[in-house]
Amino acid sequence: MANSDAALLEKIESLKKRRNAIFLVHNYQLGEVQDIADFTGDSLELSQKAAKTNADVIVFCGVQFMAETASILCPDKIVLLPDMHAGCPMADMITAERLREKKKEHPRAKVVCYVNSSAEVKAESDVCCTSANAVRIVEKLTGTEEIIFVPDQYLGNYVSSQTGREMILWPGYCPSHVRIQPQDITRLKAEYPQAKVVVHPECRPEVTALANAVLSTGGMIRFARETDAEEIIIGTEIGILHRLRKENPGKKFIPASEQAICPTMKLITLENVLWSLENMVHQVKIPEIIRLRAKAAVDKMLEG
Ligand code: 13P
Ligand code: SF4
Repeated sequence: MANSDAALLEKIESLKKRRNAIFLVHNYQLGEVQDIADFTGDSLELSQKAAKTNADVIVFCGVQFMAETASILCPDKIVLLPDMHAGCPMADMITAERLREKKKEHPRAKVVCYVNSSAEVKAESDVCCTSANAVRIVEKLTGTEEIIFVPDQYLGNYVSSQTGREMILWPGYCPSHVRIQPQDITRLKAEYPQAKVVVHPECRPEVTALANAVLSTGGMIRFARETDAEEIIIGTEIGILHRLRKENPGKKFIPASEQAICPTMKLITLENVLWSLENMVHQVKIPEIIRLRAKAAVDKMLEG
């Protein structure tokens, strides 16, 4: 490690202690940011962790909607997002206003919103879900024939295929996951015939159809730990490879596509984590009137 890196890490650690902060880090973050985490996980695991922490300050190393979810659950804590431009393009594909219009077209429908959405969109929804629990949440949804699922059409399509429930799908998608093509998987399967294939449900249906397992990023971490396979093709954002390789040195992880990069996830760096703690910016705070309605949808998800 270079001296300058060691000095930077030391500054971060000492300020973190002084502020009584916790670092919650998503599985897609840069390796150097994952390495300073108190906890690394998927969207569900991170929101569960945020809900339980005793820290005064949560430094969210992820994207806007994740920091917002932490703030929805912990309004008394300071939630910092080290780069205010770290958004999720998929979450931006729907607004509360457009969702209200859709609800008017289907007045009896219940709305399930993927956690990759703004607090305002969550406030318009009946229940939230993540990629880890979407199937279970939709299975449990009773008392309605109609379901509007927003904003990810591919996760929605996957959930439909697993539950047999037809849903009205919003045409959103993740620009990073749609880069993974079925021919990437078939080529790699020919090259590594013993490999298992795991992909994220944000991938296109032609891609999920070729997988041994369709999992959240947290699910992929567990799969990698437990499988006997020594070669695993990973169909998701390539930041996860850092953790997979670190935790499973004896196994080979092959990215389905090197193109599957989420540029906004990579905006968080050690430098802006330090800057964020020094200046206590950018604080993510949700207006109370929105927060309470959004919290109802998130709580309903976390109930189990
Ligand atoms: P996970 O909840 O599976 O970590 O996914 C979050 C995300 O943004 C996927 O693109
Ligand atoms: Fe959003 Fe896709 Fe990035 Fe996840 S990987 S944060 S869904 S743009």
